[in-house]
Amino acid sequence: MPGIVVIGTQWGDEGKGKVTDYLAERSDMVVRYQGGSNAGHTVWIAGQRFALHLVPTGIFYRETRCVMGNGMVIDPVAFAEELDYLHARGVSTENLYLSDRAHLVFPYHQALDEVAEQGLGTDKIGTTLRGIGPAYMDKAARTGIRVADLFEPRRFANLLHRNVEEKNRLLRELYHREGFDEAAIRTQYLDLAERMRPFVTDTSVLVNEALDAGETVLFEGAQGTMLDIDHGTYPYVTASNPVAGGVCIGAGVGPTRIETVIGVVKAYTTRVGDGPFPTELNDPIGDQIREVGHEYGTTTGRPRRVGWLDTVVVRHAARVSGVSALAITLLDVLSGLDEVRVCTAYELDGKRVEHLPASLEQLQQCQPVYETLPGWKEPLDEIRDYRELPQEAKQYLQTIERTCGIPVAILSAGPDRTQTFQLREVPGFGKSHR
Ligand code: IMP
Repeated sequence: MPGIVVIGTQWGDEGKGKVTDYLAERSDMVVRYQGGSNAGHTVWIAGQRFALHLVPTGIFYRETRCVMGNGMVIDPVAFAEELDYLHARGVSTENLYLSDRAHLVFPYHQALDEVAEQGLGTDKIGTTLRGIGPAYMDKAARTGIRVADLFEPRRFANLLHRNVEEKNRLLRELYHREGFDEAAIRTQYLDLAERMRPFVTDTSVLVNEALDAGETVLFEGAQGTMLDIDHGTYPYVTASNPVAGGVCIGAGVGPTRIETVIGVVKAYTTRVGDGPFPTELNDPIGDQIREVGHEYGTTTGRPRRVGWLDTVVVRHAARVSGVSALAITLLDVLSGLDEVRVCTAYELDGKRVEHLPASLEQLQQCQPVYETLPGWKEPLDEIRDYRELPQEAKQYLQTIERTCGIPVAILSAGPDRTQTFQLREVPGFGKSHR
């Protein structure tokens, strides 16, 4: 013990990579438990930008073991590319482990992702087109192919044959697309299997042994609560469970092993992809926040939709994951605004709504109730301590704490490692400061 979970409380892109990187220095192990190469975790180290999609953020610390859990879906091509990218930049992957139970993403998953989106027309989800949904569909249909299958070539060939035959029929007959060459995929994947082999193990055993030995294990969520397939704005969600409960399934640990859940909150709200977004700003303030915050997708390059901070969303996330401390990111982006707003509730048909409705139609109609606060002009880049913050920024943080009922333990006010710092004791980590 302890097991500590870092989750996104909004629609992803909250800066979890930065917070995980900050905590990874004091962790023995960092574990990803869901999602795949749809994720984009950005870390800035000494002026250099690193973007990760599959590999856990702890990889930048040589002593920290990094685990890709069974709940992930792995695209072997993306994995090999990420290994090459890291090695070319001098990052060692000696301490990286990959679950033999994780499912694989195939080129036909990406093709199916694309045709499904096209078929939805204006109702499209706005996926990353990485084949994530179709790969999880095969897992649930019990036709998926797992990492372990790659190392039993006859079994792999049989499973692939069945899948390619079925997917080709679908693609050709329903979507009038070309099919895939089974032999070419088989050769390519068996080749890629050799690159994966050194990393493959039963990661549930590894993680539980670390917890048994009293090591600090950080579970790194990808995407965010509002993209959770059960607790998000369904169907505008991803196909996995980014919430803290996903850790148990996706890493193979029991709930008794989790001591703390840290919820990462961007100081405003963004979302890529479609679906309702009550505090969205389609005005010059939204444009300013997008430009200052470089709000363009790490994985797809798409401009993100931008809005004021929505604490109905954050409270929802905090409840379903049992969040005990908040990490606020990108506070620096709000510098220079005359006033800042925090959505504390919604109004629907003249009634105050405190909880996120399941009905998307209702959510679409919800009007945000705002608390408006004075903004601050000072840039926050040089700030390394709560006491140095402008009074107005402190008031903003206090409003978040009050409306969410959860203390802010970590603050990030700039992209670099050195610009993330502790305000309070981080549960599970004690008082130690960088
Ligand atoms: P998928 O995960 O590619 O199936 O996409 C489903 C939804 O999740 C879409 O709205 C995507 O834009 C969104 N999404 C997936 N991964 C991320 C992420 O890492 N950050 C933000 N949004 C994401």
